[in-house]
Amino acid sequence: MKVSVIGAGNVGATCADVIAHKELANEVVLLDIKENFAEGKALDMWQTAPINMYDSRVTGSTNDYAKTAGSDVVVITSGLPRKPGMSRDDLIATNAGIVKTVTENVIKHSPNAIIIVVSNPLDVMTYCAYLTAKLPSNKVFGMAGILDTARYKAFLATELNVSPKDIQAVLMGGHGDTMVPLPRYTTVGGIPVTELIAKDKLDAIIERTKKGGGEIVNLLGTSAWYAPGAAAAQMVEAIVRDQKRVFPVCAWLSGEYGLKDIYMGVPVILGKNGIEKIIELQLTTDEMQLCKDSAKAVKEVMDVLDNMKAPA
Ligand code: NAI
Ligand code: 2OP
Repeated sequence: MKVSVIGAGNVGATCADVIAHKELANEVVLLDIKENFAEGKALDMWQTAPINMYDSRVTGSTNDYAKTAGSDVVVITSGLPRKPGMSRDDLIATNAGIVKTVTENVIKHSPNAIIIVVSNPLDVMTYCAYLTAKLPSNKVFGMAGILDTARYKAFLATELNVSPKDIQAVLMGGHGDTMVPLPRYTTVGGIPVTELIAKDKLDAIIERTKKGGGEIVNLLGTSAWYAPGAAAAQMVEAIVRDQKRVFPVCAWLSGEYGLKDIYMGVPVILGKNGIEKIIELQLTTDEMQLCKDSAKAVKEVMDVLDNMKAPA
């Protein structure tokens, strides 16, 4: 197995580190446009192998995509992160240009790769990669739902003083303030969360989850990387180990949930073929309305990309 991670910044380096540490691939290639940056990070990472006891070979490259040739999975994290006061959507023009160029280079050298997009604004950058790669949509998708769900679960674990391992949850919608955590599908050791927590507390956790990315931007002055990197690596693991994991993933919808021609977070089964199935939940009218509102917000940004002409 060979996995390449494009962008050796905070998220990309963390993702590559987790992939190597878990031995998800024999070869892990980290690539960045910044001279010697990926080489330096990869060398440092490789020097943890004798300590962390893994065999995955980690190498770095300054924009030489030949080094990524034959990758089974490529994670795209290249792009600018959010700064305080900046919305994810502010990033669109710059990051669309980067994601388009990167995807063209990736496909040239790894025409059969599965592509996982992380760059923001996530749903629209995934759409940009899909338009550029011209691969079937089961092979081009985005990471956000695992991160957003992890935040939701972490907040619940703190509030309820339980292990985060015992919390199961589903979250849908775009990666933004309109995301839709679904309490009806949230359980703690099999117990519906609504039996364990007061409604006002759960509502506050849902609101905090929706703004979870911004909370970290305000604390750090840049966006998160430990959880995003680990989340993208978890998707890689599901694919390379053909685990058939059920995860919320930013997927291309063709009529599911009554939505068409849009990338948005939905529960899927992830395995060696990428998205192997989109799971359609029986949502209530209110839940469906929240998903439609989120889809509308995503579509508005997709339209911005479509009207920019260049990236497609
Ligand atoms: P960062 O600034 O630490 O790293 C980005 C890297 O991309 C830099 O090293 C930069 O040199 C590189 N880069 C820029 N243009 C490139 C190109 N054309 N080719 C190759 N490399 C290029 O940023 P960070 O924190 O790693 O975030 C990366 C992206 O991921 C941002 O867009 C951020 O908003 C997004 N993000 C998305 C999340 C999600 O849930 N989907 C969560 C966290 C971050
Ligand atoms: C996050 O949710 C900013 O999308 C990034 O942390």
